[in-house]
Amino acid sequence: MKRIEELFDNNRLWAKRMTQINRRFFKDLAHQQSPKYLWIGCADSRVPANEIVGLLPGEIFVHRNVANLVIHTDINCLSVLQYAVEILRVEHVIVCGHYGCGGIQAAVEDQRHELIDNWLRHVRDVHQRHHNQLRKTKDKTSLLRLLCELNVKEQVLNVANTTTVQDAWRGGQKLYLHGWVYDIHDGLLKDLRVTIDKDKGPAKKAL
Ligand code: CO
Repeated sequence: MKRIEELFDNNRLWAKRMTQINRRFFKDLAHQQSPKYLWIGCADSRVPANEIVGLLPGEIFVHRNVANLVIHTDINCLSVLQYAVEILRVEHVIVCGHYGCGGIQAAVEDQRHELIDNWLRHVRDVHQRHHNQLRKTKDKTSLLRLLCELNVKEQVLNVANTTTVQDAWRGGQKLYLHGWVYDIHDGLLKDLRVTIDKDKGPAKKAL
């Protein structure tokens, strides 16, 4: 249990530090949040949204799952998206994948992983959809990196095609969708340059 107790010690120190920097930090935050960004990323412990982009609590709304997927029947992700867009009025939705993603890797293996195979089926679908491009890669590492990028692009399209985003754009709301990849080897983000806003027309064109 020592390790768990350490977390509480860390927490007290952190709260103290934050209050030293800004006396009203928690008081103001308790009042309201007004993040400008929604982050949809992988659950991987090496990809913590706030730290990577240097934002404080209250500045970025976060949804994470294995392999950063946006599935049209996932009520969890869709609810986060709706709340972020309609209530918090975020201006940017960022789908961020990462190289070295275990979910992406598991999806290209033949091995069974039981329950999670049903979730990773969506990554396998992306793989199949881009089979021709992926089979031209020179080795497995390049294939995994490309699949990671293609998966992000597909998820950006999925975000664009949700009723929440379509309605927001129809109503004239300013909302940009971005596809990024984080490299766990050097800590740097890469913009896949598939940014979509309502003026770009049908989301299908992004790929
Ligand atoms: Co991952």
